[in-house]
Order: sequence, then structure tokens, then C-alpha cells
Amino acid sequence: MSTPSQTFDSMWRDLMPVGRDATSGGYRRFAWTRQDHTLREWFAAEAARRGLDLTVDRVGNQWAWWGDPDAALAAGRPGIVTGSHLDSVPDGGAFDGPLGVVSAFAALDALRANGFEPDRPIGIVNFVDEEGARFGVACAGSRVLTGAMTADRARSLTDADGVSMAEALAAAGRSAEELGPDSETVRRVGAFVELHVEQGRHLSLPEVDQPLAVGSDIWPHGRWRVRTLGEANHAGTTRLEDREDAMLGFAAAVIAARRAAEQHGCVATVGKVAVTPGGVNAIPSEVTGWLDARGADEDAVRAVVAAVTEVVEEFGGLVVEDSWTGSTPFDPGLARRLATRLGGIPVIGTGAGHDAGILANAGVPTAMLFVRNPTGISHSPEEFATSEDCLLGVEALTDVLTDLAGA
Ligand code: GLV
Ligand code: MN
Ligand code: MN
Ligand code: MN
Repeated sequence: MSTPSQTFDSMWRDLMPVGRDATSGGYRRFAWTRQDHTLREWFAAEAARRGLDLTVDRVGNQWAWWGDPDAALAAGRPGIVTGSHLDSVPDGGAFDGPLGVVSAFAALDALRANGFEPDRPIGIVNFVDEEGARFGVACAGSRVLTGAMTADRARSLTDADGVSMAEALAAAGRSAEELGPDSETVRRVGAFVELHVEQGRHLSLPEVDQPLAVGSDIWPHGRWRVRTLGEANHAGTTRLEDREDAMLGFAAAVIAARRAAEQHGCVATVGKVAVTPGGVNAIPSEVTGWLDARGADEDAVRAVVAAVTEVVEEFGGLVVEDSWTGSTPFDPGLARRLATRLGGIPVIGTGAGHDAGILANAGVPTAMLFVRNPTGISHSPEEFATSEDCLLGVEALTDVLTDLAGA
């Protein structure tokens, strides 16, 4: 029989090449693309290899079950679910998402190797489109699943080429009509534990120096579309006083975001911009960018957005909310239970969004486990976790599942 380390390594090796950019070493795994299809097939094959029952909900999230979730639900013992997502940001790291899915399968293998007989079904989930890299809204799979985003809105979101989610679903062989909230699937989840690579450097600080932590909460965060307008014209022949340059208002908005974030103790990022017509020698007629703002305090984040909006409106532009997730505490009892069970490991908050947060906001008892990232860098090829720490994560997850799904 293979050890958890062997099953982990072999799954990791399978995933390594999928969607990897040879030049940057980063990953490009976007929802409903060829790469995503390969990852979904991989998930289905791992489920089949273990004799798990694969179900796909109305949104396209994949669930692999050990045990019958409906029979258990009818008996008042809904399942214990773990897992994460397999998609990535542009040039993302290898760990954000896949670590939680691979660890889930490895933990299930370890439970079986230990002769564990679950008293409740155990599910492994692959949430679709967690990063929102293609259609702009993060955690799209869990948002539609729980009703936090309407199916109509999801269907109408478009990617950079103008392809709507409805069209992308159809191209991937799925019915866009089927898209919608799926309370039957959510009810099967008695508790959800998402294991994830840490996306900052807290666990690596010399005074902390711990391989694992339990999550306490997710900061309030959101995305806003910032749009400024001007008039396209020649870069050489148009006098400065005759210009209507959409970039000026946009640049002012970016500076305003930074200043307001400093003032209100938040973070603000403008990491994606589209300029029309996009010529070096043409004055921009339109700039659309995405503001990502987060902070420990909801009012402070709102104040940052208000400051940006004021500047953008001065230039005749518009700021429109794309998504908003308020302060999201994880289940405190579950967090305590995990932390105690795992020997009093640290309990930390995070500024990163996760499907676990969407489930928590939908009333599912939810917890997170973080694995140390020695680089402290994420959403970049520099993201990292040592094999040793990953295996400690698998061990911890195995232990937690033994506790939660045991008699
Ligand atoms: C997703 O990883 C996010 O927090 O942006
Ligand atoms: Mn991410
Ligand atoms: Mn993630
Ligand atoms: Mn995330």
C-alpha cells in the first residue's frame, strides 16, 4: 500500500504540467478552458480510482463522495467535506487551490490505510472558478451554488474576449440553463474544512515559526469596476489643452486608492486594466480597471471605495461594484475544536477570499487550515510550501476528518 507521501507526490506530479507557462513558471488555469477540462478529468479519475461517487452540481462544482450523502442526510448526519479549487490567477502559483484538493485525496487514502470507518460520508470538492480570473467575480462556483450570485448575473459575465459565461459553459458541453443555486447539494455539507497554502508570511515569522494554523475569519473584501472616458485622438498632433484623456482620471483613481488605503488601514490594488483603443500613439478613449479593496474593518474598506469614487466622478467616470463579501468569521466552535485537536496551533485571520468564506456566509459550519508558505508570496510563481509542511497538512486534515466524521 502507498504511503500518504507517495500518493501526494504522485498526484502532485500529475498536476505539475497542467497550464504551466514555460517562461514564467506560473499557472494559467481558467474556468471552462482546455486546462480546466484537463483538471476536471484528473479530479474525476482520482475519484474513480478510489471508488468514490462523483456528482456535479448545477454550477459545475465536482463532488467525490465516500458514502451516500443523501442517506446520511436523511438520517440527520450530513457529510463532512474537504477540498478547494484547481483554477488559478494569471501566472499563479502551484499551491493556491490544488494543495487543498490533493491533500483531501491523500487524507482520504490515509484514513482508509488506518482502517477508519466513517460514521458520516466524507466528500471532496473541486469548486469551479474560485479565482474569477476569467469572468471577474471570485468564488463564482460557490457564489452561484449558495445563491450569493444569481445565475442570470453569472451567465452574463464576460471574459476579456467578450465570451460570456453562458457561452463558455456551452462550449464546455454544459447547459447554461442548468446554472443556479443548488440547495440540495449545500444541505449535504454538514461541515466544510478547506486546507490552503498560507498567502502571507505570518507562520514563517521567527517568533511564530509554525507549519500550520487554523483560520479564524476572512477580511471584508470586494471588487469594483472603475471606468473613465475620453476621446481617442492622435498622440502627436493633439495639443494638451485639446485632449480628453481617459487615462488621467484613471491614474488619479489609482493614486487615490493607495492614499485612502494608507489612511484607513486597508489594502487596495488595481492589477488589471484595459485601455481603448490601446495604441501607444493614441490618446485613450476609455480605461476600465478593477479595484480590489480589503481590510479588517468593513467601514474602512467602504471609505476607500468612496474616496476612489469621488475622484473618478470628478473626471466624469463611473465605479460599479462587481462583488462584495462582508466580514466572514469561520465557525468559532469548529476552529477551537480543530486548534485543540491539532495541539494548540495558531488561529489566524486572512485577507484572501475562499470558497470556505462563501459557504460560511451561507450558514455551513466551516473551518480552514493553513500550511506555511516560506516565501510569503502568493498569486505568483514564487508561492511555495515544503513537502514536509504539506505532509503535516495532510496529517492534520486526516486527524480532523477522523474527529469530525468518526463515531
Ligand atoms: C482569491 O484568492 C483572492 O483572495 O483574491
Ligand atoms: Mn487565490
Ligand atoms: Mn485559493
Ligand atoms: Mn482565493
